[in-house]
Amino acid sequence: MKILVTGGAGYIGSHTCVELLDGGHDVVVYDNLCNANEGVLDRVEHITGKRPVFVRGDIRDAEAVEAALRQHACTAIIHFAGLKAVGESVEKPLMYYDNNVVGTMRVLEAAAKTGVRQFVFSSSATVYGEPKFLPFTEEHPTAAMNPYGKTKLAAEGMIEAFAVAVPTCKVALLRYFNPVGAHESGLIGEDPKGIPNNLMPYVTQVAAGRRTHLNVWGNDYDTPDGTGVRDYVHVVDLAKGHVRALDTMAEKGESLTVNLGTGKGYSVLEIVKAVEVASGKTIPTKIGPRRFGDLPAYWADTALAEKLLGWKAERDLAAMCRDSWNWQSKNPDGYV
Ligand code: NAD
Ligand code: UD1
Repeated sequence: MKILVTGGAGYIGSHTCVELLDGGHDVVVYDNLCNANEGVLDRVEHITGKRPVFVRGDIRDAEAVEAALRQHACTAIIHFAGLKAVGESVEKPLMYYDNNVVGTMRVLEAAAKTGVRQFVFSSSATVYGEPKFLPFTEEHPTAAMNPYGKTKLAAEGMIEAFAVAVPTCKVALLRYFNPVGAHESGLIGEDPKGIPNNLMPYVTQVAAGRRTHLNVWGNDYDTPDGTGVRDYVHVVDLAKGHVRALDTMAEKGESLTVNLGTGKGYSVLEIVKAVEVASGKTIPTKIGPRRFGDLPAYWADTALAEKLLGWKAERDLAAMCRDSWNWQSKNPDGYV
């Protein structure tokens, strides 16, 4: 299959390109590099022995997306491109709606015009909002709590409506829990700009001596050790989930909405301990106030992913921390 991967130079996109290329697919990366480095393509080539085609462009430019789809005769799209920082989405909501909702609309328009009938979308567990019950099943009500989450929910609704209107089009909405880790080669990984918002890159930067300590955002939650609990999933497992989603749509001719997580929750302090073990470094922590908008605890129900996709995360917390640390220690300044 020849697949247009929007946002394919980014963190999850680059790992998915590796799995697609290793699986014998052809890949066209479409990215405007607003949060990525072109050097990632060399790294993907180094790992797989194949270089993805690269088209530098913005997803909001429907004509350019259409031209890329036509020129390279793509038959499927995996749509990662988007903005993902929750705090920034509160400050700049229109920028988030423009990129994530209008951008998705333009990609769908291009799919419609070129006859592309397979579409995979990067959604997030953030669409569920406050847990009414746990683990989160795909039937859990959706109630995103911030502009970022609302753009994901709006995009999901638009994609579903598109699939109803164009019944030959099959769509997969993949709701990621907390992606961490890196390719085991240490050649590709997460490269946040500035101070990381997310836990794992922050912790590995403390381990590397780039930051003095981790601020633990609250230790008074109703969780075993009082700190926030999340379902961390290895990015390589996540990447494999995308390949399974494409295969499943092709085999069964069905659209799907599934969680991609491990089904297990770990606390902030458990992550700190696991990274200490992986890195052999001590990670100083300071307890701070709760972060605005944070939830105490949530994790995925993974039964549907297993049943529909035959997909189950295989890498445990030790592997996630080992690979995050391997990437961080081999690339102290990220892609340079
Ligand atoms: P990332 O920032 O590393 O990757 C996104 C890529 O999209 C980048 O390469 C960026 O340059 C590109 N991009 C952004 N806007 C674009 C535009 N208008 N046109 C073309 N390219 C554009 O992020 P990621 O962590 O790899 O996330 C990928 C997707 O998964 C995003 O849609 C994100 O919202 C979603 N997601 C991420 C997480 C997470 O924790 N990383 C969790 C749930 C969902
Ligand atoms: C965040 C986003 C969520 C997004 C997800 C994956 C918020 C409110 N939510 O989720 O929408 O889908 O990233 O990209 O930003 N923590 C610390 N210290 C830190 C950083 C984090 O204690 O410096 C704690 C947090 O309070 C939380 C846990 O670590 O309990 C995980 O945080 P993070 O990695 O930011 O992910 P989420 O908050 O789950």
